[in-house]
Amino acid sequence: MTALPPRVLLGVAGGIAAYKSAELLRRLTESGHAVRVLPTASALEFVGAATFEALSGQPVHTGVFTDVPAVPHVKLGQEADLVVVAPATADLMARAAQGRADDLLTASLLTARCPVLFAPAMHTEMWEHPATRANVETLRSRGVVVLEPASGRLTGKDTGPGRLPDPAEIADLARLLLERPDALPRDLTGRRVVVSAGGTREALDPVRYLGNRSSGRQGYALARVAAQRGASVTLVSAHTADLPAPAAVEVVHAGSAAELREAMHAAANGADAVVMAAAVADFRPVSLVEHKIKKTAAEPEPLHLAKNADILVELVGAREPGQVVVGFAAETGDADHDALHYGREKLARKGCDLLVVNAVGDGKAFETPDNAGWLLGADGGETVLAMGSKGLLASHVWDAVAVRLDPRHADT
Ligand code: CTP
Repeated sequence: MTALPPRVLLGVAGGIAAYKSAELLRRLTESGHAVRVLPTASALEFVGAATFEALSGQPVHTGVFTDVPAVPHVKLGQEADLVVVAPATADLMARAAQGRADDLLTASLLTARCPVLFAPAMHTEMWEHPATRANVETLRSRGVVVLEPASGRLTGKDTGPGRLPDPAEIADLARLLLERPDALPRDLTGRRVVVSAGGTREALDPVRYLGNRSSGRQGYALARVAAQRGASVTLVSAHTADLPAPAAVEVVHAGSAAELREAMHAAANGADAVVMAAAVADFRPVSLVEHKIKKTAAEPEPLHLAKNADILVELVGAREPGQVVVGFAAETGDADHDALHYGREKLARKGCDLLVVNAVGDGKAFETPDNAGWLLGADGGETVLAMGSKGLLASHVWDAVAVRLDPRHADT
């Protein structure tokens, strides 16, 4: 028997970011969700119903007086596995916070008992207005996940917080809530955390480098989930696949191990938690050849390598009281021992508070959207991390960090 696809209601409110909901819809349907789109009447001023109908394969209505015998204003919400509202405008959030039911979307929000995700998009002034702040707090206190918006260019020349997070990011967070409805509590509010991600590149000459296969997806998921759990996040990003910058995260770029080391030490100063998810090169060429190495010589020159500093060990050494340091270990295991055995050894050697162990090989961990492994604690705790999205693994890491944080240090 094949499992039914998750049923997602995609609410679209009337703002210019409504055009991005078409891409979100496509991502949700292509990843196997059955999506029904509920635009508000003003959303249809921006995007036509035909676009949503074609992409979802479902009819699109705004009011409660269409198809009355099927009672859609009650049924759609009752039967949904997830409601996503993107974009959520100030007006839509005000109506939802008030419990209004004056169109099909708001009526469905009242009948839904599944996780609800709002992705706000509006001008910075509207986002920061006390009325909107109060509505966001009301919705969050009722268990609605209201995302932090991204910062950047808004309509016209304005910039600031209020941009819709990238549709790929909203789709990832939607999948996370389907996997784990309680993955995004606001428990990191007032905390400052630092995450490294991606693979470093050690230059051989102006065009070549020694690199690795890290896509950066796990580190980006850690940063994204921490930001949506309320933390102020610095993401030190080495080279990655083409990933959108997570909303509400400060991104610092670092190419080589040496650059990443400097950026991590600077960012870790005063942070509550530091997570080393980057794949850092253990060795670098002793010297950088200034000109492109030519193949004219009969025999290639041997490569001379020098050892890079172990940044995780250094961060553990410099750890401030109460700071939680998390490492990652990608292990294959061998004829003598399995990956978990080597993970336990690595935790002891590195001295960090938590270590995520991923078994690699056979298409696992690298360049994939999913991940699994074990979460080991310096206190001897061991948790199995079942196969799931990298966001799901990130949510378990932040759970373990949150219980280790010193309650006195949160700046509220
Ligand atoms: N790490 C680091 N600096 C390095 C190498 C690794 O900070 N120069 C960090 C990684 O970010 C990760 C952890 O150390 O959090 C483990 O990385 P891994 O490559 O698995 O371990 P190594 O120390 O390189 O051990 P080995 O290659 O022998 O398995």
